[in-house]
Amino acid sequence: MELTSETVVVITGASSGIGAAAARRFAREGVQVVLAARRRERLEAVAGEVRRLGGTPLVVPTDVTDPQECRRLIGRTVEHFGRLDVLLNNAGRGNLASVEETTPEQLWRIFAVNAFALWYVTAPALPIMKAQGRGHILVIASVAGKWGYPYNSAYVAAKHAAVGFVAALRAELIGTGVEATVVCPAAVDTEWGIATEGGPLGLLFEEAVRRSRQIARQRALPLAPLPKVLSADEIAERLVELVRHPPRTDVFTHAGTEELALLALRHRRMFEQQMLPFYLGAQQVYEEWRRDGRIPKAS
Ligand SMILES: NC(=O)c1ccc[n+]([C@@H]2O[C@H](COP(=O)([O-])OP(=O)(O)OC[C@H]3O[C@@H](n4cnc5c(N)ncnc54)[C@H](OP(=O)(O)O)[C@@H]3O)[C@@H](O)[C@H]2O)c1
Repeated sequence: MELTSETVVVITGASSGIGAAAARRFAREGVQVVLAARRRERLEAVAGEVRRLGGTPLVVPTDVTDPQECRRLIGRTVEHFGRLDVLLNNAGRGNLASVEETTPEQLWRIFAVNAFALWYVTAPALPIMKAQGRGHILVIASVAGKWGYPYNSAYVAAKHAAVGFVAALRAELIGTGVEATVVCPAAVDTEWGIATEGGPLGLLFEEAVRRSRQIARQRALPLAPLPKVLSADEIAERLVELVRHPPRTDVFTHAGTEELALLALRHRRMFEQQMLPFYLGAQQVYEEWRRDGRIPKAS
């Protein structure tokens, strides 16, 4: 898709991390951006940056777990700009809990933001894009939508659902001129790792990575193949490129992750063997944190 001053891009989760970086990066292309998330002040700060880049952003505070607010977001966009070309479904949140400690409420909330919201936001956007005969729905899932991580099963399962959502959507969009793409990043340097519900999963994983090196040495195992952390700006750069040139495949942003996803698909056990030092490290840290009370026990 060509990006011009007429192009309208809606971004959920635009108040921080990848969403905020995408807002700035798309604004640099001279397109119109619509910024959605719950924290109004943070959205206004991002809108200020977009204005300094010459843009005229529309801020629509939205909780994407509320279907009515999602319909309002799309309605306000079309009222204001008269069209909608790109929808970046980026809002998301992780969780920290073992399978047995995941409460029904946590499971619901994590699915609501990472999976159900995809229907809530995308459904009202589709008739508009189909009538235009042009549009692109992007979903930021994760490599957690392609393989497993420990102690955040609700998030991992919801991101697998996000990958499935895009696969089904693409099958419905044949011949409409509307594209749909799922993007599967590995670790990105944002607030995600400390914003996780139930405790800071990012800090647990950082400690697990440190331990995994000792464990690998002690057991004479190779280091777990953990991808390098990228910046939100690097992901945003890729997103602009994807809108310009829609890909034919699910998108992996981090070097080596597509190969790992294929390995997990074809040889699950071999994949798990490679990850073993990391999984054992995570197990040690989780158990210590549970004993120390750093992770609350499920009631
Ligand atoms: N960082 C990583 O390592 C990583 C890796 C793979 C995939 N991802 C995915 O990338 C996406 C962006 O995450 P990030 O890394 O940029 O993390 P982040 O900095 O924590 O940003 C998450 C965004 O989602 C928004 N959000 C959360 N709940 C929401 C709700 N109910 N309604 C509306 N907005 C909501 C937050 O805004 P408010 O709190 O203001 O609502 C925030 O803007 C997420 O889908 C995440 O799962 C991240």
